[in-house]
Amino acid sequence: MAHEYIRVQNAGPLSGELTLEGAKNAVLVTMASLVLTRGKSRLTRVPASHDVYQMKTLLEELGAEVLFDEQKHELIVDTTFLNGWSVSPDLMKRMRASILVMGPLLARFGKAKIALPGGCLIGTRPVDLHLKAFARMGATITTSGDFLQADVEKIRPCRFVMDYPSVGATENILMAAAGISGVTEIVNAALEPEVLDLITVLRNMGAHIDFAFPATIVVQGSLDLKPVEHEIMCDRLEAGTLLIAVAATGGTLSLPDAPVDSLELVLEKLSEMGLSIEVGPQGRGVKLTSHRPMNPVSFKTMPYPGFPTDLQAPMTALLSLASGKGVIHETVFENRLLHVPELQKMGAQISLSGDRATITGVERLYGASVIATDIRAAAALVIAGLAAEGETRITGIHHLLRGYEGLDQKLRTLGACIEIVRD
Ligand code: UD1
Repeated sequence: MAHEYIRVQNAGPLSGELTLEGAKNAVLVTMASLVLTRGKSRLTRVPASHDVYQMKTLLEELGAEVLFDEQKHELIVDTTFLNGWSVSPDLMKRMRASILVMGPLLARFGKAKIALPGGCLIGTRPVDLHLKAFARMGATITTSGDFLQADVEKIRPCRFVMDYPSVGATENILMAAAGISGVTEIVNAALEPEVLDLITVLRNMGAHIDFAFPATIVVQGSLDLKPVEHEIMCDRLEAGTLLIAVAATGGTLSLPDAPVDSLELVLEKLSEMGLSIEVGPQGRGVKLTSHRPMNPVSFKTMPYPGFPTDLQAPMTALLSLASGKGVIHETVFENRLLHVPELQKMGAQISLSGDRATITGVERLYGASVIATDIRAAAALVIAGLAAEGETRITGIHHLLRGYEGLDQKLRTLGACIEIVRD
């Protein structure tokens, strides 16, 4: 197999303007939700990331016809003849988000067979909340070998109180509830912007969805959900990654379509670091201008609107260059600090204690050979490489390609020296 890695060198401060892709975490679940419909749907602003191709294959294996025009970022999905209800271990291993078809399959066929999830190396990542809710809706859950199976004679709505506001579980239950008759309540639900984007899609299909206090989503489903046309929301996590990358190099970046309201706390932390943040008219678009020295900041990752766990690794790289000590507490996922030993190889001064990282900024990072273990760890290493002296080589780049469309190319348009090498 070809040896693949990213080579990054410091090319000084990056500057320019970029447009954002559609959100990976919104597009995958929107694609899964189409299983609930019969007919042709059209999604726009679809990123050409590897996970989107995996979800396309999954829908095709279930019997959908899928056309992806990468140039137009348009995806046409015809689910008229969808007749499959099983997801192979191979697909599940490559894309954990495959679990998101379970709810729609249960609503449509009363059964779903899904291989046990694989994916990023961040903790054990159980799916117990998804399964508990399906059991509450009347499904019998069995496991055999590598497979999870759910069967239900007549699926029924329920009230489900979640132990934790899991994004995937909220989405899975929402989709199952949207495709059946009756009222389902999801209490202690995740209300991430991507969940709200899914709610817009399900409402356009014909489901009635409301919110109640506290953090409750109330779904009045329908047995006749219609195909939809939907523009995927801009990727707030790509926006955050790019802002942090440019800040690490001391440059300037404009993102005219950045969804500022969903990045509020991230922008707040960047301002606290002394970077200047200008928000565009009507709260859309942002311009970052770097200043030195950068103040250290501390934060805890939390469900939305708390600090997003997906931007924790990129911020760790940035804090490595601040002047002083910051503490990051990762509370969402266990084992999501695997980028730390790699950043240490580049000269970062970070001490770990359980799920906390204390980062003491250094004058300079140094290029090294490092390994990416998940999407956001890969992004963090790219960011460190852009600011480091010498050359950085990052392996495990399939993680980066899973989640970002053309990140290397975008950074090059800002002046970065970065390339994907295959030898
Ligand atoms: C989604 C996002 C991911 C993001 C995460 C948190 C997608 C494709 N991925 O992942 O990028 O980092 O939200 O914002 O949208 N948990 C359980 N039992 C369950 C489900 C989850 O204990 O049944 C735990 C997980 O182990 C984790 C926490 O809940 O500790 C949060 O996970 P969850 O919100 O479900 O994340 P994902 O939906 O997997």
